[in-house]
This record gives sequence, C-alpha cells and structure tokens, in this order.
Amino acid sequence: TTIETSTSTGHEPPPVREWPVIDLEGTEFDPVLAGLVREGPLTRIRLPFGEGWAWLATRYEHVKLITNDPRFSRAEVARGQVTRLAPNFAPRPGSLAWADQPDHNRLRKPLAGAFTVGAMKRLRPRAQEILDELVDGTVREGPPADLVERVLEPFPLYVVSEVMGVPETDREQVHAWTRQIISLTGGAEAADRAKNGLYGWITAIVRARARSAGEDVYSMLAGAVARGEIGEEEAVGLAGPLQIGGEAVTHNCGQMLYLMLTRPELMERMRARPAERGPVLDELLRWIPHRSTVGLARIALEDVEIAGHRIAAGEPVYVSYLAANRDPALFADPDRIEPDRDPNPHLAFGNGHHYCTGAVLARLQLELLVDTLLDRLPGLRLAVPPEEVRWRRQTMIRGPLTLPVTW
Ligand code: HEM
Repeated sequence: TTIETSTSTGHEPPPVREWPVIDLEGTEFDPVLAGLVREGPLTRIRLPFGEGWAWLATRYEHVKLITNDPRFSRAEVARGQVTRLAPNFAPRPGSLAWADQPDHNRLRKPLAGAFTVGAMKRLRPRAQEILDELVDGTVREGPPADLVERVLEPFPLYVVSEVMGVPETDREQVHAWTRQIISLTGGAEAADRAKNGLYGWITAIVRARARSAGEDVYSMLAGAVARGEIGEEEAVGLAGPLQIGGEAVTHNCGQMLYLMLTRPELMERMRARPAERGPVLDELLRWIPHRSTVGLARIALEDVEIAGHRIAAGEPVYVSYLAANRDPALFADPDRIEPDRDPNPHLAFGNGHHYCTGAVLARLQLELLVDTLLDRLPGLRLAVPPEEVRWRRQTMIRGPLTLPVTW
C-alpha cells in the first residue's frame, strides 16, 4: 500500500493514526489531537470518510508555512477522495475554499469591498439594532431563556442577510433554508432540498441584480458576472458559503459565553474592565476548540520537505489551526486562558490566502454579542448546572446545543 512506499528523508514515515469523530463534552481539547501533537511535529492520520491517509501538521511554524505555500493546492483535492471528516463532498465552482491562485484572487475580487474593516464599521449600527431587538424580545418574555435559540442563532443569520442584500420579503424563506442546511437533526434529504432551494434563489437574485448599483454582495456579484469577470455559476458558488457562514459565529460565541458563565474570574474580568474586552475575545478565539478534527486538506503539487520528512507530490496534507494555537513556542502556558496575553498572533481564522473571508464580520458580531449580553443582563448566569448543558454531536463545528440562562 501507499503507507509502506511513502518516502522519507532520514526519518521513517510516522505510523498512520485513526482519528475517529468523538463527541466531546464542553470545551475539552480533543485528546486525539493532543496525542498527535505530542507525537509530531508531522504525523499521519486517517479520518472516517474518503480514502487513504494524509499528513497532519500541528506546529505553528509548519502550519504557517504550508498555508502560505502555493506548492500545496486546494483545487487538486477536489479531483480525488482524500481522507476526510465529512461523508459527502461536492465542491461547487466558485467556492473560495477550493480555488487556487490565480482563480482565488479573481473570485475574491468582487467581494473586496464587502467584508472590509470600513464596511463593517458602517454595518455596526444596523447590526446593533438587530441585536437589540432580539435581546428586547428575550427580556420581554423573561427568564429563563435559551440564548442559542433566542439570540446566537438568529443574529448572525439576520446580519449576514443585511450584508448580502437579501430583500426583506425573502428573508424568512432564506433563513428557513439556511437553518435546514445547518440542522443536525433534519436529515440529509431535507438538507439537500433546502440547498437546492437556496442555490436556486441565489441564481435568481444574481440575475435580477445585473444592473443594480447597490453595495450589497448580491449586487457586486451580479456586476462582476455582467462584466464577464466571473461566471454565473461561480457567483452562486461564492455566495452560498457566505450566506451559510454565520453558523460559525453562533457556535463560537456559544463556547465563549459558556466559558464566561462557568469561570467566575473570567466573567469578573469582562465586567470590571469593559474597555479591555477586545484582547480577551482574541484570547478566547485562540483557546476555543472551534471545530472537530481538521478542516480541508491541501495536496502537494511537488515534493516538499518539512521537519525532516518528504511530503511527496500528490500526497494530501492537513494543518490544525487549533493545535497551532496551543503551540508553546508561540504561546506560554498555552492551555491556560490568559486575558493579558500579548502579543496573541492566533490562527483562529486561518492563514494565507484562504484566511476566513468573514473574519472581520465574525469579530464584529462576537464583540456586539458579548458587549450587549453582558451589559444588558447584569445578573446573567446559567439556569442549569454546567454539566447539564448539552453539546452538539456528530458535527464539524463544536458548540453548546442550548445555553439555558437566567438573569
Ligand atoms: C474560511 C474560521 C466566521 C466565511 C475559514 C477558515 C477558518 C475560519 C479557520 C479556514 C481557513 C483555511 O481554509 O485555511 C472562522 C471562525 C468564524 C468564522 C472561527 C467565527 C467565529 C465566518 C463567517 C463567514 C465566513 C461569519 C461568512 C460570512 C468563510 C469563507 C471561508 C472561510 C467563505 C473560505 C475562505 C477561502 O478559502 O478563501 N473560516 N470563520 N466565516 N470562512 Fe470563516
């Protein structure tokens, strides 16, 4: 098999480790990943789906190197069945995650203005208004409340629709599709139907906005199609993940609030020094185990030597941003949440040209959520013992299923 024939330069290739998807409780760091880090710097893994094995890089230095190096390709992954976490996998044309340069730049260009720091500054008052309405409703109904259902899930959906330019009349339908697509319990068939519905709707709106001068994402994509810079299919493939991407904020913020609600010293710090919450959010972004196993692979286009191992052309490679974020070479006492950590060059949003498109938007939403919930609900606390909080299972993105709170 390929395992025996893999070459190495001086080092024997490391054994291939099975990485099952374990349903982890709370914010525990994946013990399998911890083991791979100890065995590292480079290991080999096999995930539940796809074929064969892949390299895994867990050190900060190597993660940065691999994610910045054009010799590792995403487009190439789409041509095979690389070992992976997800059962199905059907990259669409236009999807940023699967594009290499120069296509990636061409596809990203129509979005250039939409997710910048400036654009997010202009979005802020409207996003705050949306959030205030959600919190007003929660306060009106009174405690206890599930923060996930009442605030953490709807808020990112509504905000992203604002940025994308979803017309008021279509929002309910678009949000229903999105909820179905990200649902853990609705089944694959319902999710497929919702995907078809959403992608069909996106196609129609991109056509309808061909001559729009609007600054919303759908207008910008439609303009780029009209000018022949991207194809219509590509515009749709670009928009889909953005429309769905808010899910990451829901679950990341769920983990953040859980940490504050179960660590009194952390909550105390957030309340006592509100002007210094920003760096604490970054420390939490560094520390939170955002996802299960690893994200999307890359494939070596030529032989590359890393840490004494030769990654041969054609071999798949994963990087773990979660592991890199706990690398003691960069972060002293990495398993500790250290609110005063400075500098904090974490990789929670990735690195290189696949760096998260929605990072500034996500950061804005996390800030608004934490500020608004802490400031408007001074007595905020869990309504159940911490061990009774239920967590998402069999999922890519980790987080609490519900967050029952009172105030
Ligand atoms: C990619 C993290 C929110 C859209 C990524 C990557 C990470 C990440 C680690 C992968 C980098 C790589 O492939 O090497 C997060 C976290 C979020 C968040 C922690 C929230 C706390 C969002 C939001 C959106 C979004 C709100 C959209 C509105 C995307 C897209 C990509 C991406 C489109 C693919 C970019 C590319 O491959 O060029 N994100 N993300 N993300 N994210 Fe996010």
